Amino acid sequence: MTKTKRIGILTAGGDSPGLNAAIRGVGKTALGFYGMEIIGFRDGFRGLVTDRRLRLDRSVLAGILTVGGTILGTSRDKPHRMKIDGRTGDMTGVIVNNYKKYGLAALVCLGGGGTQKNALRLSEAGLNVISIPKTIDNDVAMTDSSIGFATALDIATETIDRLHSTAHSHHRIVVAEIMGHRAGWLALGAGIAGGADVILIPEIPYHVDKIVEAIRRRSRHGTNFSIVAVAEGAMSVEDARTFTTAEYRKEKALNPRERNEAKMELAAIEARHAGNTLRLAKQLEELTHLESRVTILGYVQRGGTPSPADRLLATRFGSACADLIHENVFGVMVASRGNGTEAVPLVKVAGKRKTVPPNHSWVETARRVGTCLGD
Ligand code: F6P
Repeated sequence: MTKTKRIGILTAGGDSPGLNAAIRGVGKTALGFYGMEIIGFRDGFRGLVTDRRLRLDRSVLAGILTVGGTILGTSRDKPHRMKIDGRTGDMTGVIVNNYKKYGLAALVCLGGGGTQKNALRLSEAGLNVISIPKTIDNDVAMTDSSIGFATALDIATETIDRLHSTAHSHHRIVVAEIMGHRAGWLALGAGIAGGADVILIPEIPYHVDKIVEAIRRRSRHGTNFSIVAVAEGAMSVEDARTFTTAEYRKEKALNPRERNEAKMELAAIEARHAGNTLRLAKQLEELTHLESRVTILGYVQRGGTPSPADRLLATRFGSACADLIHENVFGVMVASRGNGTEAVPLVKVAGKRKTVPPNHSWVETARRVGTCLGD
């Protein structure tokens, strides 16, 4: 008699809509189609270390397709640097032992860029790992899209739509800060779809005077309001220069002391950057003499019911992942390519970030319709 394959699954990094749809997609295909058994680990890699798990049977997988967040819980814990009982240590060995103890044939890791790196580490430690990309930032390399982006795009676009009517009524500038970490996909996509007048993304450092010029031009044509969609990682040309120099110093550091100094400098720049949107709005108000207001969309973009597009993507990813486990294909991420999926080796994904190429068709489209990109 052949032994039933038992697989483990976890969700790591920031939550995003569609995670439960993916868990269901993996689970239903693995259980129903291939006759496997599936165990969920709670709170990302931490659950694998602290032995907190949940058997994902048919009743647990039922009714979760449309539910936001993740039924497994999540965390940003890394296997190689995890705080347990007040002490930080490398837990890779514990994870490898637990994987063997539970008799797992594979481990499925759902997450963003950080999770892809952690998945590769565990794969290099000898585990059969498969990952699925999820992040509202859409910045995981080697995949057309990631779970959560479509829903976040809908939410951010609807917010810009709503901001239009209030900006218009009060003749104000409304600066809307949109998530995306160091990538501009979400701000650019929502900015175009919502008809923002100015879109600022990290990949195109901005000049404040160019934004002012665009807003004044609108005023001269009788439009006394403007919507500025700013990605949380967008920077002025001056700030981008300082940031890039610090990053370069970190990369090229010759010893731990230099590396540490560069890291601290980067942390200081990032801390200062946290108030960037408020500062920008104030600058625009002073320079244009139009009242300005700020709306920070924040975690609303990650919350609630996944859109149909995300449910579809997550279900496709999930069932393709179970197929790969059945075929014993490991050390890969399930990527979306056109209408299909493909298995991309984790080594090609880990440590890379998919940012918006400055000549991307979305950028060109925004320019064609007269949107100011701050450059
Ligand atoms: O990666 C998703 C994301 O929501 C980013 O857009 C944002 O920069 C970050 O997570 C926020 O992280 P946290 O949930 O740890 O506050």
